[in-house]
Amino acid sequence: MIDLPESSTALPTGPEPAPNSESLALSAELLEQVRAEIAAGGGFLPFSRYMELALYAPGLGYYVNGLRKLGADGDFVTAPELSPLFGATLAQWFAPVLSGEGCEILEFGAGSGQLAADVIMGLDAAGVQVQRYRILEVSPDLRHRQQALLATRLGSERMVHVEWLDRLPEEPIRALVLANEVLDAMPVELFVWRQGRVWQRGVTATESGLAFADRPAPPALDAAVRELEQAAGPWPDGYVSEWRPTVGPWLSAVAERLEQGLIWIGDYGFPRRAYYAPERVTGTLVGYYRQQMVLDPLAWPGLMDLTASVDFTAVAEGAQAAGLDVLAYAAQGEFLLGAGLPALFEQSVAGKDDPKEIMQLAQQVRMLTLPGEMGERFQVMVLGRGCELPPGTFPDRRERL
Ligand SMILES: C[S@@+](CC[C@H](N)C(=O)[O-])C[C@H]1O[C@@H](n2cnc3c(N)ncnc32)[C@H](O)[C@@H]1O
Repeated sequence: MIDLPESSTALPTGPEPAPNSESLALSAELLEQVRAEIAAGGGFLPFSRYMELALYAPGLGYYVNGLRKLGADGDFVTAPELSPLFGATLAQWFAPVLSGEGCEILEFGAGSGQLAADVIMGLDAAGVQVQRYRILEVSPDLRHRQQALLATRLGSERMVHVEWLDRLPEEPIRALVLANEVLDAMPVELFVWRQGRVWQRGVTATESGLAFADRPAPPALDAAVRELEQAAGPWPDGYVSEWRPTVGPWLSAVAERLEQGLIWIGDYGFPRRAYYAPERVTGTLVGYYRQQMVLDPLAWPGLMDLTASVDFTAVAEGAQAAGLDVLAYAAQGEFLLGAGLPALFEQSVAGKDDPKEIMQLAQQVRMLTLPGEMGERFQVMVLGRGCELPPGTFPDRRERL
């Protein structure tokens, strides 16, 4: 095992504003848990397990500890948080395939609940009654926030159609499945490519906190990384990146239940060749804290979001292996413009005479669609089984995968 000299961590340095004492206590408790697992693992914890603990350790991990995360006063803003036009566009685009009996939606990781509210209201406006909107949320805290927001936005009549799940339903489903910025929050393995050998980068404990350490990669990681290098290399010595082992199993679990329907995935990511391009020498893993990007992923365990881009080629491969059709792949901006955002914008500003409100909506459209904002960095993939794509024209980028 190699202990890396650039010992990185943790308390008390980091981005501003510094967390309060309550948050720091929570982080210190999580750090103890991480230290215990490192000790149990003989001084090494795979990064994927560190990320799992940092994000999802019961009561302490970032997504479950009850501290505010989404929105302008949180750590990051997602597309549905940025604008109600995002969910409204999805609703309008999907409406033709959801009309008819028994419209059902299953959303993974619903964040604040904003997307669910906008989709249900948007479908309602398009004359489609949602029979059942199920949310599979791994965070009890976010679930409470979603319940509060949806109760306010939807009112009791529509609220009866919303249910929360702890795990995938056992029975076959016919549904539209939504997952916006969910895959990027699933743990990744870190690896280093050194002189043709693959190393697994993990976490070790030091006197002052946590640091990275490397060891020879176990066989599954070794094989996966060699395939990535074949597809996108040759890589320079010292190349560091990520591999997400959970994408295939997640897709096959969803596909196993999906008798008929569509799966819409939105996230930041790239086709494989761009993700693992030789010049991307430090990968894509970053933290987010109070709208600031933090390059040290070991800083403040539990207080900062950890995220890595999505390899959309891996999503397409996982989907095909699970027997799903890959129906569309597009940049978010092109998708939204083709799926009806311009007309929805026109409708929303019609009759408004407050220039500030109109400017705000126009700014939201720019943020969602411009290539330098979320338009290109965020991508959309639609998978399906026994279902056609709704009408709407946007450039098909599947050949890039
Ligand atoms: C970055 S947030 C995105 C929230 C929301 N979808 C949005 O766009 O605002 C990531 C969400 O994914 C959830 N999540 C992560 N892994 C999950 C999984 N395996 N199943 C369901 N939800 C998951 C987290 O709990 C969190 O709600």
